[in-house]
Amino acid sequence: MDTINNLKSELGGKIANADSMDDLEQIRISALGKKGQITALMKNLSALDPEKRKAAGKELNILKQVISSLLDSKKNDLENISLESRLAEENIDITLPIRPEEIGTIHPISQTTDELISIFGEMGFVVAEGPSIEEDWYNFTALNIPVDHPARQEHDTFYINAKKDDQRMVLRTHTSPVQIRTMQSQKPPIRIIVPGRTYRCDHDATHSPMFHQIEGLVIDKTTHMGHLKGCLIEACRTFFGMDELPVRFRPSYFPFTEPSAEVDIGCSFKGGTLKIGEGQDWLEVLGSGMVNPNVLENCGIDSNEYQGFAFGMGIERMAMLKYGIPDLRTFYESDLRWLKHYGFQPLDIPSLVGRAGL
Ligand code: DAH
Repeated sequence: MDTINNLKSELGGKIANADSMDDLEQIRISALGKKGQITALMKNLSALDPEKRKAAGKELNILKQVISSLLDSKKNDLENISLESRLAEENIDITLPIRPEEIGTIHPISQTTDELISIFGEMGFVVAEGPSIEEDWYNFTALNIPVDHPARQEHDTFYINAKKDDQRMVLRTHTSPVQIRTMQSQKPPIRIIVPGRTYRCDHDATHSPMFHQIEGLVIDKTTHMGHLKGCLIEACRTFFGMDELPVRFRPSYFPFTEPSAEVDIGCSFKGGTLKIGEGQDWLEVLGSGMVNPNVLENCGIDSNEYQGFAFGMGIERMAMLKYGIPDLRTFYESDLRWLKHYGFQPLDIPSLVGRAGL
């Protein structure tokens, strides 16, 4: 009994004084390990006579339990202490200011594209797309521009060596081929808007070899010139944010429309500065017309049953006019100062400035 009591107070004292997990583990091994003191006493039990063995066995088991639970609770204490000290060391200084992060801006081409898509989106147009590398047939022939047609020369086309079914391929000179692709793959009624890259071999302050257009196409049974006019007047006024913007339709020629009209907006060039919406001058902003019946037939649409209108405009040109950007080449120079000046905040909602109902 004495041995057990002595061992109990000796081990209890050691456990209480242990100041690390390693210490504690050593104590556990010295008491309960294979060669530990309690283990040794357990082994000795067999040498005792049955009466004593029973009583001593009971005491030893109690001792074992007491020591185990002292070890456990000390282990717990040591873990808490180490957690506390780590928390104290690793505290975060929330008073430090955050590192400034550079936020980019939306390029005026993307912004203008989004604005135009949302204006036509409100009118029920959906976005369609097509490839940059296009078959000659889609870019020209199906649009009623046959092989020897003078309009082909006006397009300053980039021809590329690759051929498909012996047809030469081109970098599309306009977004109009997507009209053909859509009319082949969808049944009317059709109401699409086609933003995308276009390519022409031309380079100066108002032309770039790669530029962007937005094409529109509406095909239905009763769509007429009045719809074309209403839709484009509304779109121009919304885009420039002027309810009273004068809009004029001037007779023109495009092989894929008949009749065709160019759309001009009212402006003034007085004193060498352009002011949109005032004055006596006119500025061309887009091409349009009623879809030529030949184009419908080329796409397998019965031109006696269906008709519609189409239009196309240059996105750079619209952006230059709305945001006063003088040189088209600067769009592609990636000059950070220019991008910061003309760029838009990422979370800006496309501005449909001041138009009722939008
Ligand atoms: N594709 C013409 C161009 O690039 C623009 C155009 C004019 C598109 C009239 C049309 C349209 O859809 O009806 O110059």
